[in-house]
Amino acid sequence: MNKILIRLVIVSAIGVLSQTSRNDIPEDATMTFSELADKYGHKAEEHDVISGGGYILTLFHIPGDKHRPILLIHGAIDSADSYIMRGNTSLAIALARDKYDVWVMNYRGNRYARRHTSMDADSNQEYWDFSLTEIGYYDVPANIDYVLKKTGEDKLSVIGYSEGTTSMYLLGATRPEYNDKVKIFISLAPVCTLKNTKPLASIVIQLAPLLNVALEMINSNELMGQNSTLRALFTDVCSRKAGYEVCLINGLFLLTGADAKEIEPEFFPVVVGHFPAGTSRKNINHLVQISLSGKFRDYDYGMMKNMEKYRRFTPPEYDLSKVTMKVALIAAKNDKLSTIKDVEWLREQLPNVVDYTVMKSNVFNHVDYIWGRTAHKTLFPHIFRLLNKYNK
Ligand SMILES: *[C@@H]1O[C@H](CO)[C@@H](O)[C@H](O)[C@H]1NC(C)=O
Ligand SMILES: *[C@@H]1O[C@H](CO)[C@@H](O)[C@H](O)[C@H]1NC(C)=O
Repeated sequence: MNKILIRLVIVSAIGVLSQTSRNDIPEDATMTFSELADKYGHKAEEHDVISGGGYILTLFHIPGDKHRPILLIHGAIDSADSYIMRGNTSLAIALARDKYDVWVMNYRGNRYARRHTSMDADSNQEYWDFSLTEIGYYDVPANIDYVLKKTGEDKLSVIGYSEGTTSMYLLGATRPEYNDKVKIFISLAPVCTLKNTKPLASIVIQLAPLLNVALEMINSNELMGQNSTLRALFTDVCSRKAGYEVCLINGLFLLTGADAKEIEPEFFPVVVGHFPAGTSRKNINHLVQISLSGKFRDYDYGMMKNMEKYRRFTPPEYDLSKVTMKVALIAAKNDKLSTIKDVEWLREQLPNVVDYTVMKSNVFNHVDYIWGRTAHKTLFPHIFRLLNKYNK
């Protein structure tokens, strides 16, 4: 197919879609984390955490029992919102109701963490020069320290999802003193090497380096930022009636595994209102590199620049044997990104896995952990059991 034909197809597809009627956008789609917390009965505070390099990150806090602090870490291109967008049946609200002291962080680059002490994210392209490396080495520990300082505790519990787990393994491996600050790390959809991803996810990952080069050429360093043109187009198409079929059933589910019953058509516009929340191109490229090399290691700049940066041709690997914190792994059979095979490999590398659970449902997928309609019944009880046992 030549370029003109491709463009014609895209333009007519958008044309057709924009004629289908809009869904009524539910109120929850346009609310911020704090507004949602308020609506579902809990006042949230917003704290500014200054992370390494001067990045300013919003940390949401729903106050509870100070002696039971818990930090929630979101996944790639996402934000704190995923932990609350299910409202009364979301994890943040469930924990708050159980009187946990709930802290939900944002890593650099998303809609709540796009500020900096000196750089402007819109005009300074260097702002976007970060990946998983900086998120795990600076952002996560900055938030852990902040929470411990505010609560006066010396340990906290952590729940991470997807890349929110990767950043914790990176932290435990590169700054081992943080292992002692964690009572239990509950890993939802653990992601470490992404070696055995399944189609279509695996195919997209194969193609991603090409896309990365193209984006680099046009100096497009922020991905899916809240105010970007691409995000506007995505929101417009995906929040229409046909959006459920186009963006979820024939879109996102191909990457995450399909489980239509868990994301009903009325709820999908809420997802679209909050996800994607923006990140750097380099962050996603780092995950792609890890997947393609099968190695959990630092960012690959290419041989010459690696030599300059690391004094070796390939990036150094992270040593998982140093991640000595207690870890609970939760995996799912229909997750095309965090596959059972990869999670079992991770389980063998980590020295202190205290629990390994595979979700019962055969169709539980990558996004059901955070967006699933019945996660509060199928998943949360297990999380609460783990917290009761290890959050001492
Ligand atoms: C959320 O649940 C609480 C407690 O069950 C209830 O009082 C409240 O009305 C619910 N809020 C919404 C917005 O559904
Ligand atoms: C998007 O634009 C609005 C209006 O200019 C601004 O208030 C908001 O901070 C921007 N958000 C991001 C994430 O850039």
